[in-house]
Amino acid sequence: MSEPVASSPAFVQRLNFHARDASNESAALQAALSLGLLAHLPETGLGAPVPLATLARHVGGNLRGARAVIEPLVALGFVLFEEGRGYSLPATTAGFLRDEAFTARLHEARRWWHVAAKLPEAVRTGAAVEWNGASWDLLGWYRALFLGPPVPAPSPEAADFHDRLARAFARTQALVTAAELGLLERLLSGPVALAELARGTGASAEGLGVLLGVLGTLGITRSEGEAWGFTEAAGKALDAQSLPYFQRALPATMAYWEAFGHLDEAVRERKFRLDLRDPETARRIYQENASRISSIFASHLRLSRKAAELVKSMRSLAGARVLDVGTGSGVWGAAFGLADPSTHVTFLDSPHVLDAVRPHLAKLKLEPRSRLWAGDCLGVDYGEDTYDVILLPQIIPALPPVELPGFFSLLARALRPGGVLLISGYLLTDRRDGPLDALYFALRRYVSNEGDVLSLPEFRALLEPVGLTAARAFDMPIQQVVVAHRGDVPWPDAA
Ligand SMILES: C[S@@+](CC[C@H](N)C(=O)[O-])C[C@H]1O[C@@H](n2cnc3c(N)ncnc32)[C@H](O)[C@@H]1O
Repeated sequence: MSEPVASSPAFVQRLNFHARDASNESAALQAALSLGLLAHLPETGLGAPVPLATLARHVGGNLRGARAVIEPLVALGFVLFEEGRGYSLPATTAGFLRDEAFTARLHEARRWWHVAAKLPEAVRTGAAVEWNGASWDLLGWYRALFLGPPVPAPSPEAADFHDRLARAFARTQALVTAAELGLLERLLSGPVALAELARGTGASAEGLGVLLGVLGTLGITRSEGEAWGFTEAAGKALDAQSLPYFQRALPATMAYWEAFGHLDEAVRERKFRLDLRDPETARRIYQENASRISSIFASHLRLSRKAAELVKSMRSLAGARVLDVGTGSGVWGAAFGLADPSTHVTFLDSPHVLDAVRPHLAKLKLEPRSRLWAGDCLGVDYGEDTYDVILLPQIIPALPPVELPGFFSLLARALRPGGVLLISGYLLTDRRDGPLDALYFALRRYVSNEGDVLSLPEFRALLEPVGLTAARAFDMPIQQVVVAHRGDVPWPDAA
C-alpha cells in the first residue's frame, strides 16, 4: 500500500476513520451478511426492488434495525435504493455475492470479530489466544490479512467489500492495541529498535513486529533496519499534542465492540448488549462522554460560540433566557452565556453528568447567571413561554423516536414569541443516504438502543405540527445545526 502524502488532511481523516467508524462499517457489512439481507435483494433491473418493510420481514428483523444496517451499504454503493420502490443490488455486488469461494472468505472473517478484541493480549504474549473454548492464532490471522500475499478477489468492488468487512475492524484493533501498549508515544522522538520497544512496552518482539507491520500498511510506521519509526506523514500528524487527542476516541469505540459483534441479534430480537435505556449503563457511558468532551471543551466552545453568533445575528440575546437540554459538558449553554452578559442559562441533564458542568461555569465566571437542572428531559415540566432560546445539542439521537412528537410539543409550548430552537449534531441527507459518518453514528445509536439521526425533512415533519413552521439547516465546522422558529424571526442575511 502506498504511503499517504505528508500530513495531508486525507491521512488524518483516514486515521480518525480507523479510530472511530471503521469497525462500525465492518459491523454493518457483517450483519448484512449474517442476517441474509443481501440474499433477499434482486439484481437491479432483474426484479422488483424490495421495500424496507418486506426486507425486514424476510430476515425476521425490525424495521429500524434493518434500515440502520442497510443505509451505510447504500451510501457505499453496494446496494441501490430507489425512493418509493426499495432496494436492489447493482450488478457488481450481485456478481461477487454469487462467488462462493469469495463469500466463504467473508463469513470466515466474521468469526474473528470477538477474537480480534484480544489483540493486546496476543501482542503482549506473542502466543495464540483463547476464546470460546478454542485457541486462535490471532497474530497469524493478522499476518495473513495484512502482511502476506494478497488473495485475489473476483472484482475491484469485491476487494473493496472484503477490505471494509474484514480488514477495517482489524485496523481499529491495531490502533487500540498500539494505544494500550503506549507504543506510539515511544516513536514520538524518532525510530526505536524493536528489542527496545519490546522492553519498554512489555510486549513480545514477535507480536510487536506484526503490529508495527500492520500500522505500516496504514501509513503510520516504517522500518529502518532493526528499528521502527513514524512515516513522515505520521510524524507530522501525530505530535505529542495531537496523539492523546487522537487516541481518546479509542476507548469509546471499544465500548461498542461487544454490542457490534451481536448487531444481527439486535436487529432480529431487539436484544441490546449495550443498552443505554438501562440507567446504570447510561450513567457510565454519559459520564465518560461528558468528561471526554470536557477535555476538549475549548475547541468545542469555538464551535458552539459560532452557533451563538448565528442566533445573535437573527435576534437580540439581551436578557435572553436560554435552556440547554442534555447539556453534557455544558459547552453549548456556556457559549450562549458568553454571547451576551445579560443572558441566563439553564443546563439540564441527569445529576451525575451535571458535575462535569460546574468547573467550566466557574472558570468562565458564568455561575451567577446559570442554573443547573437535574432531570429527565422527557419528564420535566418546561412551563409555558419560559425560554427565548432552547438548545438541543446532540440529544435527539439519544431519545426514543416515539417520544419526539410529545417532546417537541412541550418545547414549543415553552418557547416565547420570537423564540428560537436550535438542534445541533449530525444531519442526514434528505434521502438518508449519507454522510457516512452520520450513518455510522446512527448505527451506534441503534446498537445501543437509543434514538435516531434525522434528515431536515424529518425534523420539519416533527416541528411543523407544533407551530415551528420555519426551519433551516446551517453548516458549522464539524457539525450542522437546524434552527427553527414560528416564522417570527428574520433569517440572517447570508442564509
Ligand atoms: C451525546 S451527549 C451530548 C452532550 C452535549 N450536549 C454536547 O453536545 O456535547 C447527550 C447528553 O444527553 C443526556 N441525556 C440523554 N438522555 C437524557 C434524558 N432523558 N434527560 C436528560 N438528559 C439526557 C446525556 O446524559 C448526555 O449528557
